[in-house]
Amino acid sequence: IEKMQGNIAIDGPAGAGKSTVARLLAARLGYLYIDTGAMYRALTWKALGLGIDLEDSRRLVELAEGTSIRLEDRGEGGIAVYCDGEEVTRAIRRSEVSRYVSIVAGVPGVRQYLVKLQRKMAASNRVVMDGRDIGTLVLPGAPYKFFLTASLAERARRRYQELLASGQQADLETIMEEIRQRDARDSQREVAPLKPAPDAIIIDTSQMSVEDVVARIMSLIAVAGQQG
Ligand code: DC
Repeated sequence: IEKMQGNIAIDGPAGAGKSTVARLLAARLGYLYIDTGAMYRALTWKALGLGIDLEDSRRLVELAEGTSIRLEDRGEGGIAVYCDGEEVTRAIRRSEVSRYVSIVAGVPGVRQYLVKLQRKMAASNRVVMDGRDIGTLVLPGAPYKFFLTASLAERARRRYQELLASGQQADLETIMEEIRQRDARDSQREVAPLKPAPDAIIIDTSQMSVEDVVARIMSLIAVAGQQG
């Protein structure tokens, strides 16, 4: 078990199962779970609430620098997200935030600021961190990197189920289109585009349950630990 120590980076597109898998892994290993997408979402939530023009990059960077974002790991219960002390755990999952978050996440100065925060969080804890650029940019030295993918149809289906389960209305076609657009923006943007780190292990989760993926990663980590 001591050999299994070291930060774990989990990247991939929306709906590949990253956050569920990362949360369970962190709880089992006793690591801190850091959902970096939640940080971009919290900032987007704040910007929308203030009516800030999302085309105004400079204003968004100022906003980021003046915002306190705190993640509270509640183990298998997930994480609670606080923006300037206000709990926004549910608010940041609303579809309005999902629709605009990749614009905010495309601003280089915003990313610089949040990446700095993310590195600070990882410096004082063993972490499982999920996002889009963790293995490539935030924690390039992480010993364990995984890139989770799944077909667009499967990712849309999961998101649809999630919304229904949380009592929200949802339309599968609309969700698929939103994910398609978000994928395109996240992978084509200039700064930190979504792509696997050269040393990441790619796992296609389309046909796997969450438990399958967690078990797969746990066994890959154990094997690497024995070799290392
Ligand atoms: O994982 P998520 O859906 O909560 O992420 C929300 C948005 O933030 C998504 O459009 C991609 C972006 N993001 C990012 O650019 N870099 C990260 N490390 C995490 C998320």
